[in-house]
Amino acid sequence: MPRSFAQLARSAEKTKAAIHVAKEALDVAPLEIHKFGDRVLRQSSRRISKVDEPIRDLARDMLRSMYTAKGIGLAAPQVGVHKQLLVIDIDLETASTPPIVLINPEIIGSSATLETYEEGCLSIPGVYLNVVRPSAIRLSFRDEMGRPRKMNADGLVARCIQHEMDHLNGVLFVDRVTDQEDLTRELRENGFNRDFVQGVS
Ligand code: NI
Repeated sequence: MPRSFAQLARSAEKTKAAIHVAKEALDVAPLEIHKFGDRVLRQSSRRISKVDEPIRDLARDMLRSMYTAKGIGLAAPQVGVHKQLLVIDIDLETASTPPIVLINPEIIGSSATLETYEEGCLSIPGVYLNVVRPSAIRLSFRDEMGRPRKMNADGLVARCIQHEMDHLNGVLFVDRVTDQEDLTRELRENGFNRDFVQGVS
């Protein structure tokens, strides 16, 4: 069972025939990424009961769209699909490093240690703001073949997983920003309406 990103990546390498797309920007992304203010970003996603070829196709198209937009993570609700599926690739420069595909992810443990880190989101382009989150997590999920797995993550991967999992619950990173002045300024400068920010319970 993979215990780290490196182990997960190695095990994904073995099954890369399952989800393997070129890490390149296409002229036209296969899927449209919805932007801040769009209601679809606020709806919760359902668990995936069967991991089949249509789900893997969706994951591939999400990856192609993510690579085209030069992002490191994308959640299904961002492309208007309310299923618990997300894709992550923090190594866009290395073609051989496989992406991470997480289905029905659940955080089963979080570090007490918190970390502040600047986040961005393909649904809120141009906006980068500090967010505080646990620095490490333990996760259960299904992989792209439907196999149940567990993994530990820290650093950028942990950050990215938590950000993308928020999308599955209709939560956006700007909802978690504590510096209200920064938030208001950054959203305004990038043409987004501050009224679309929601409180996180
Ligand atoms: Ni995002």
